[in-house]
Order: sequence, then C-alpha cells, then structure tokens
Amino acid sequence: MVKAMNRSLLSVMLGGFGAEKQGSTSALGQDKTARSGNPQDAAFIMENANKVIIVPGYGMAVAQAQHILKEMADDLHKNYGVEVKFAIHPVAGRMPGHMNVLLAEANVPYEDVFELEEINREFATADVAYVIGANDVTNPLAKTDPGSPIYGMPVLDVEKAKTVFFVKRSLNSGYSGVENPLFFAENTIMLYGDAKKVTEEIVAALEQNK
Ligand code: TAP
Repeated sequence: MVKAMNRSLLSVMLGGFGAEKQGSTSALGQDKTARSGNPQDAAFIMENANKVIIVPGYGMAVAQAQHILKEMADDLHKNYGVEVKFAIHPVAGRMPGHMNVLLAEANVPYEDVFELEEINREFATADVAYVIGANDVTNPLAKTDPGSPIYGMPVLDVEKAKTVFFVKRSLNSGYSGVENPLFFAENTIMLYGDAKKVTEEIVAALEQNK
C-alpha cells in the first residue's frame, strides 16, 4: 500500500502510528529526544520495505533472539518479498565469531550473512536497519570523535538506512560506556524491550497483517 502510494514510510509512521518522543539527558548534560515506536509500527514499516539489513549484537545473544530473528527474516522475505540481509561486525558480542555462531545455530543461510566490509555500503540503499542488541558497533563517534575511546574502530554505517530501529531496553550505552548519538537521530526509532520479546511481537504482527 505504502509502496504504491510512494510515501515516506517514516513519515507515515510518525504521522499516526504511535511513535512517541522520550526526553533524555545525555552524558554531556544536553537535553535530547529519542523517538520510540512499538513492534506493530516496526512490522508495518518492514513489510513495506524493499531491503532490510539486520545488525545483531551482544543483546541478541543475551536475549537468545536468534531463532525468532530468523523467523522474522523468513516472514519478511516469503510473505512480503523483502530482501533481508544480516550484517556482522567483527567484534559484535563478546567473543570472536559470536554472532556467526548464533545465526548458524538458528539456520540463517550463510549467503545471507555479510561481514562489515562487504555490506557497509549497502546501508545507503536499505529502507531499514534493524539493530538488535547492538550498540558500540554502530556508534558514529568512532568515525568523528578523536577523543572517544572507540575512535578509529570501523563501524557499521546503519544511519545511512532510511529508518533505523534500535531494539534495546533503554538508552544505556554498551560495553565501551560511550553514548550513541544515533539514538537521537531523526531517522531512528527506538523499540524498547527485550530483543526476543520485541521480535516475537513483530513476527506476530507480520503474521496478522499477511
Ligand atoms: P554493546 O555495545 O555492548 O551493546 C549491547 C547492547 O545490548 C547494550 O547497549 C544493551 O542495551 C543491549 N542489551 C542487553 N541485553 C539486552 C536484551 N535482553 N534485549 C535487548 N537489548 C539488550 O554490543 P555490540 O554492539 O555487540 O558491541 C560489542 C562490544 O563489546 C564492543 O565494544 C566490543 O569492543 C566489545 N567486546 C567485544 C568482544 C568480541 S571479541 N566480540 C570481546 C570483548 C569486548 P540496554 O541495556 O539498553 O538493553
């Protein structure tokens, strides 16, 4: 429907799909605003997307969300014709190959899984980056802030996607302790909650909508 109407998905969602704003005070003491949505909003946006790139991180491992994530990817592809890819950062999680192991356990096809240098330029052509339990590996301060402890680390350019969903429980920082400015970006929607539970609710909505 939205594809046919050629409207911006984000504007559709923000125009009446329950996105709400939450205030926050950053580590620097500045007032900032992060927008949040719900799983039904996210399902709507993703089923109308052409390309979705999933970025898993430590929180996906904690929540053991890999199986439901595979179900979400299958549902989007088979029922809605969405191209779905997985982007793996070399230090996502807490041990080498952490994400690859979990995605393999969930039977995510090897050919759908891409390393950072293979996929990074594709965010610019993605409708959605679904960042699930990942944080530091997306933080653009690694590119721009020489004073940051993560400066120089290659990161996934998720902010180049039209819409970025961050699935996490709060605005808290990750392993590095560095705040992520993307939570407050114009094209970001926070999906607050446990990674598995949020993704389960998205899958339920996708099933209902088909
Ligand atoms: P992080 O930057 O650590 O972020 C993980 C995020 O997951 C947290 O911000 C947390 O936010 C969220 N989270 C935790 N439990 C969750 C749950 N049940 N449901 C949803 N979200 C949950 O992870 P990353 O992006 O994967 O980056 C890895 C970091 O670990 C890097 O800094 C890397 O250098 C470091 N590290 C990696 C390794 C290897 S070899 N992979 C080894 C040691 C250290 P909330 O609290 O808001 O939910």
